[in-house]
Amino acid sequence: MAARFFGGGFASGAVTSVALYSLYAYVLKPFNTEPRLKRTTKEVPPKLEDSKDILRYGAPDRGPDVRYYSNHALSYDRSKKTPLWVAEHITQADLQGPAHRKHSNFVMDPNIQAPFASQNSDYKRSGWSRGHMAPAGDNKYSQAAMDESFYLSNIVPQDVNNNGNFWHRIEIYCRSLAKRYKDVWVITGPLALPTLEEGGKKYVKYEVIGKNNVAVPTHLYKLITVVLPPVDGNKSDTSSTNETVAVGAFVVPNEPIPVERHLKDFQVSLENLTESAGLHFLSNLQPSVTVRNLCDVDSCKLITQQQLQLHIIGRRLEGATTLPKLEDSWRQLEEWHLEPDDNLWQLYQRRRVELEETSKQKPNRTDSI
Ligand SMILES: *[C@@H]1O[C@H](CO)[C@@H](O)[C@H](O)[C@H]1NC(C)=O
Ligand SMILES: *[C@@H]1O[C@H](CO)[C@@H](O)[C@H](O)[C@H]1NC(C)=O
Ligand SMILES: *[C@@H]1O[C@H](CO)[C@@H](O)[C@H](O)[C@H]1NC(C)=O
Ligand SMILES: *[C@@H]1O[C@H](CO)[C@@H](O)[C@H](O)[C@H]1NC(C)=O
Repeated sequence: MAARFFGGGFASGAVTSVALYSLYAYVLKPFNTEPRLKRTTKEVPPKLEDSKDILRYGAPDRGPDVRYYSNHALSYDRSKKTPLWVAEHITQADLQGPAHRKHSNFVMDPNIQAPFASQNSDYKRSGWSRGHMAPAGDNKYSQAAMDESFYLSNIVPQDVNNNGNFWHRIEIYCRSLAKRYKDVWVITGPLALPTLEEGGKKYVKYEVIGKNNVAVPTHLYKLITVVLPPVDGNKSDTSSTNETVAVGAFVVPNEPIPVERHLKDFQVSLENLTESAGLHFLSNLQPSVTVRNLCDVDSCKLITQQQLQLHIIGRRLEGATTLPKLEDSWRQLEEWHLEPDDNLWQLYQRRRVELEETSKQKPNRTDSI
């Protein structure tokens, strides 16, 4: 059976390799530092009649290949109890609105049942934070969409420092791309990469946490794709110019990342990510599409640690439910020795007026919740 399959593969490989070569030439052109993937066969499903008897009692079922949510889609790994990949299409419209993470809770994904689901108890006292793959902040337009981003199917065990700092800055970078380019597609997921150990042997070694043995990734990846405007800037004429996209693939170790590191330090070729993840990304990218390196087109510069802190205070100001809480968040600026910028100052003033209004309307609460 296997021999037959591979035999057929080699024969048809000659026919399809020209077409596939041209696809890969385009996809990999900007990252052309390593040999190209030797992808010669399409994976042809064997005929049902051939397998009927073999699978009389059913093919082992790994669940749906793709699961769809309001603002993300993912493939779930029932063995590792984490997603394999989580995909998003980010636009400016998704990033505006009143949804706030304070209203969301991490919960078991109701679509994934035991024994395949991970639970909050797995993460409790594990030493690992619950890291969003599709970030909560990409769902400001809808509380329901944001709530779904807190399903544990979108979560992996992530180093708390990595999650709150370097990784958070990458997420903010992706959102900032949506301001400069109309459409941003991001695919995020965990990796378990091998390490070389004594004696020259390689091992894939990762911790598992909780009673469900949730796999702790050694690395996390993001694959970012943006559509570039036509080169001559002539938006009314799309027929004469082929679509151009910019692509960046990044692999970051699941550990604290020093603040001076750049996103570019973690860039890998698409081919490299393809092999590490075992996933063929951007499979619908047409050969006519020109692919450029995101970091050539858009610098891949992250905000500074200080700007991140201002951002976090802004988020707290937005989320404050009472005047004292608002003042607490504002005082955080002093503790962190930060100067507010104009935006933050205006946000603070606006929230103060809003909260003064609501505290006038509502009698003071004496009960505690
Ligand atoms: C843009 O494209 C349109 C349609 O092809 C054409 O009429 C127009 O002259 C172009 N403008 C420039 C500045 O090239
Ligand atoms: C990907 O790149 C890294 C760093 O350049 C390298 O160590 C690793 O072996 C590469 N992985 C694959 C699958 O090519
Ligand atoms: C668009 O792509 C096609 C197919 O690769 C190519 O033949 C054509 O020359 C391209 N057109 C432009 C304007 O680049
Ligand atoms: C509520 O508390 C604020 C500040 O503590 C106070 O200024 C205000 O008069 C109180 N309002 C009522 C209705 O008790």
